[in-house]
Amino acid sequence: MLASGATGVRGTRGWVVRDVGARSSEAAPADQRSTDAPGAAPAALEVSSLEVHFGGVVALQDVSITVQPQQILGVIGPNGAGKTTLFNAICRLVTPSGGSITYAGRSLLSMRPSQLAGLGIVRTLQGLGLWTRLTVLENVMLGAPASTNMFSDLLALPRADRGERDRTDAAMAILDELGIADRAGAYPGSLPHGTQKRVVLARALVARPSLLLLDEPASGLSAAEVEQLVELLNRLRADMGIALVEHHLDMVMSVSDSVTVLNLGRVIAAGTPAEIRANDEVTTAYLGNEVTNA
Ligand SMILES: Nc1ncnc2c1ncn2[C@@H]1O[C@H](COP(=O)(O)OP(=O)(O)OP(=O)(O)O)[C@@H](O)[C@H]1O
Ligand SMILES: [Mg+2]
Repeated sequence: MLASGATGVRGTRGWVVRDVGARSSEAAPADQRSTDAPGAAPAALEVSSLEVHFGGVVALQDVSITVQPQQILGVIGPNGAGKTTLFNAICRLVTPSGGSITYAGRSLLSMRPSQLAGLGIVRTLQGLGLWTRLTVLENVMLGAPASTNMFSDLLALPRADRGERDRTDAAMAILDELGIADRAGAYPGSLPHGTQKRVVLARALVARPSLLLLDEPASGLSAAEVEQLVELLNRLRADMGIALVEHHLDMVMSVSDSVTVLNLGRVIAAGTPAEIRANDEVTTAYLGNEVTNA
């Protein structure tokens, strides 16, 4: 059975998700959607003049970004530029010393990390972050919201069983959509890196995010896998805003609506991919011609 949040073509081998956004909130008029529920309508993330210090290290200084619904913001910059710290600040894992972060007009700064999934904000980690002693299915189920759905309501299952079955159904549906349902019982460590990256994405998507923060989703992927990832992102964007941190510059340039470049904790450029390619300071920050060749 396909869960209500993830329907579509079964058994696809590529990373082609159909109608992941066919979430329950879409059936309701916008003014009836709860912004606290997973699958809430996509909204704008606004980060303004953000400052993060680690002791004497200035990790972020006067950093501003906006992620609009249905848009992909690429965030690039050399190692240590502050990209992951930016995500950590948004996700409340580090406390900024200045600036503001709002989602759908609500400040995130007073919220706990555990509240963000309820707002529809989901991120992936720079590493895989999979639990090696849990199966693929169990890993993905950890990302599933603890809610009931109409199928189990119809079957009048006991509440605990319903929650478990709903999460199993939702996780299996996403694994199916990402073409790895046949690996549900495997342990992540036994799988190729590219498959593990799909599991990471499945765990994020099963939460039906309205804002997805991806930290280096293409790292270690083959060229073919990167192409499939781009195809997936282009499908997902219809239903969410996406912030994409990535060193794979040609991928960022091809998929992003806009790009922000960080260097040493500061925004050194922001604009369309074409504008970023033409920016001398960006080229210098990368000490090479990767960007202009992207
Ligand atoms: N928890 C921390 N404590 C102290 N310093 C930190 C911490 N996290 C990050 N930093 C420092 O903040 C700066 C930015 O690091 P960050 O990991 O955000 O960079 P990045 O752009 O994600 O780099 P990469 O591309 O290598 O992942 C670096 O100087 C880093 O050493
Ligand atoms: Mg990083």
